[in-house]
Amino acid sequence: MENSTLGKDGLFVKPLCIGTWAWGDKLFWNYGDGYGEAELEEAFTAAIAAGVTCFDTAEVYGLGLSEKLLGQFRLKTQQNIQIATKFGPLPWRFTGESVSTALTDSLNRLQVDKVELYQVHWPFTFLISQETLMNMLANEVERGRIGAIGVSNYSAKQMREAHEILAKRELPLATNQVRYSLLSRQIESQGILSTARDLGITILAYSPLAQGLLTGKYTGDQPPVGLRSLDPKFSRDGLRKIAPITSLLSKIGEVHQKSIAQVALNWLIAQENVVPIAGVKNAAQVNHNVGALGWKLTDIEVHELDQASRDYL
Ligand SMILES: NC(=O)c1ccc[n+]([C@@H]2O[C@H](COP(=O)([O-])OP(=O)(O)OC[C@H]3O[C@@H](n4cnc5c(N)ncnc54)[C@H](OP(=O)(O)O)[C@@H]3O)[C@@H](O)[C@H]2O)c1
Repeated sequence: MENSTLGKDGLFVKPLCIGTWAWGDKLFWNYGDGYGEAELEEAFTAAIAAGVTCFDTAEVYGLGLSEKLLGQFRLKTQQNIQIATKFGPLPWRFTGESVSTALTDSLNRLQVDKVELYQVHWPFTFLISQETLMNMLANEVERGRIGAIGVSNYSAKQMREAHEILAKRELPLATNQVRYSLLSRQIESQGILSTARDLGITILAYSPLAQGLLTGKYTGDQPPVGLRSLDPKFSRDGLRKIAPITSLLSKIGEVHQKSIAQVALNWLIAQENVVPIAGVKNAAQVNHNVGALGWKLTDIEVHELDQASRDYL
C-alpha cells in the first residue's frame, strides 16, 4: 500500500492526499480563527517533508484563496508536487469554453502551466452536457494544461458515462472524488466503489475523518466551532451514536500504537483502489495523519471495522 496510482497506469502518489478546503475558507472552516497562512505553510512543508506531495484544492475553496496559497507555497520548494483542482459546472456557466476560462484562472492562481488532475466538482449538466464537458477536458489534456481527468460526486452511472465519452478520445477517467469514511459508506452500497474498480478509476475519499468526528477529539463538552456545531452528528446524541466505532478504532489503535484517526485512514487505504484526502489546518495534523501510512490493519481488524460501521452503508 506504499504507493497508489491515480487511475489505471496514472500518476504514482502515496495513498494519502492533503485536502485544502479549509485553506482560506471562512464560510465553513473559520480561516483566520485559530489558524492562518503561517500555519498552512507549515502544514504544506510538513507534508512534503513526509513525502506526501498530492494536494487537493478547488476554484471555490476560499473563493480562490486555497489555490493562491498553494501556488505561493509551491514556489518555495524544489520538490515536485501533484495538484488536483476542480471546475464547477455552475448555473451561470453556459458553454464548454467556460471550462478553459476557469482552468486558465486556476492555473494563474496556482502559478503553474499545468495541473496533474482536473476534476468536475459536481455532476451538474443543466447547461453544459456531459459530452461537452468531457470533450473540453480531453482538449485540455491534448493542449498539455492538465495531466489527467477526474470527476467528483458522480454516481456509478454518471461515472460510466464519463468513462465512455473519454474512451472515444482514448483517454481514461482517472478518479472519482466522493465522500467516504467509516461513517459514510454509501459508495459501497450504491455500486460506486465496485464500478470504479471495474473501470480502473481511483476513488479519492473526501471527508475521510468525517470532518473531525473520526479523530475522537470532539465530545459533548468540547464541540467544534463554526458550522459543524450545528450539525446533529456533532451533538451529544450524534457523538453517542458513533461511540462504538471510535471505541473500536481506539482499541485496534492500541495494538498498533496508532490513534483513532490513523486507524480510520488506514481502514480506507485498506479498501482497494482508495486514496483518502485528509483536510488539515496545521503541521501537527499533517504529521499525525501521515502516521496512517507504512503499516497495515489485519484482515480481521478490517472486518471488525466493516461490521461495526455497517449502519453507514
Ligand atoms: N469534492 C467535494 O465535493 C469535497 C467535499 C468535501 C471535501 N473535499 C476535499 O476533501 C478534503 C477533506 O475533507 P474535509 O476537510 O471535509 O474533512 P476531513 O478530512 O474528514 O476533516 C478535516 C478536519 O478534521 C480536523 N483534523 C484533520 N486531521 C486531524 C488530526 N490529525 N487531529 C485532529 N483533527 C484533525 C481538522 O479540523 P478541526 O481541527 O477544526 O477539527 C480538519 O480541517 C477537503 O479539504 C477537500 O480537499 C471535497
